Amino acid sequence: MKLLFLNGPNLNMLGIREPGIYGRQTYQDLEKYIQDFCGELGIACEILQSNHEGVLVDAIQSAYGRVDGIVINPAAYTHTSVALLDALKAVSLPAVEVHLSDVSAREDFRQISYVRLACRRTFAGHGFQGYRMAAEALLAEKNGASEGEKE
Ligand code: DQA
Repeated sequence: MKLLFLNGPNLNMLGIREPGIYGRQTYQDLEKYIQDFCGELGIACEILQSNHEGVLVDAIQSAYGRVDGIVINPAAYTHTSVALLDALKAVSLPAVEVHLSDVSAREDFRQISYVRLACRRTFAGHGFQGYRMAAEALLAEKNGASEGEKE
């Protein structure tokens, strides 16, 4: 089982950006957290952060035929990017959407998610743990468990 973890714009500023919303842990802490739980679960992982939509599209395309699933926090591109949605549809890999914050309790413009239309599930408001929940959901799916609802 190999997963691609994709993080969108400004997530490299974790620890500095709006700590009241996103916490004090840094992006490096997030990468380490992902590497650690993937090690525990026996998952091989690739992790990428970019502030550029096209780089994220390229990363999704290059995942085709190479990984078993994608965990994606598109950050602000969640609410704007048809290109990311189309890329996920194009490769048709199982994907799960993650947000550190509970986007459902935030501004109106954060209530729209384009990528969600190509994702099996969404985990929002669980902080770093959401990434693990997403990976476990993809692992369970690969092992034949049934799909759950969006959370
Ligand atoms: C975010 C939520 C988005 O609305 C926001 O633009 C982000 C981070 C989250 O992880 O909570 O950059 O995806």
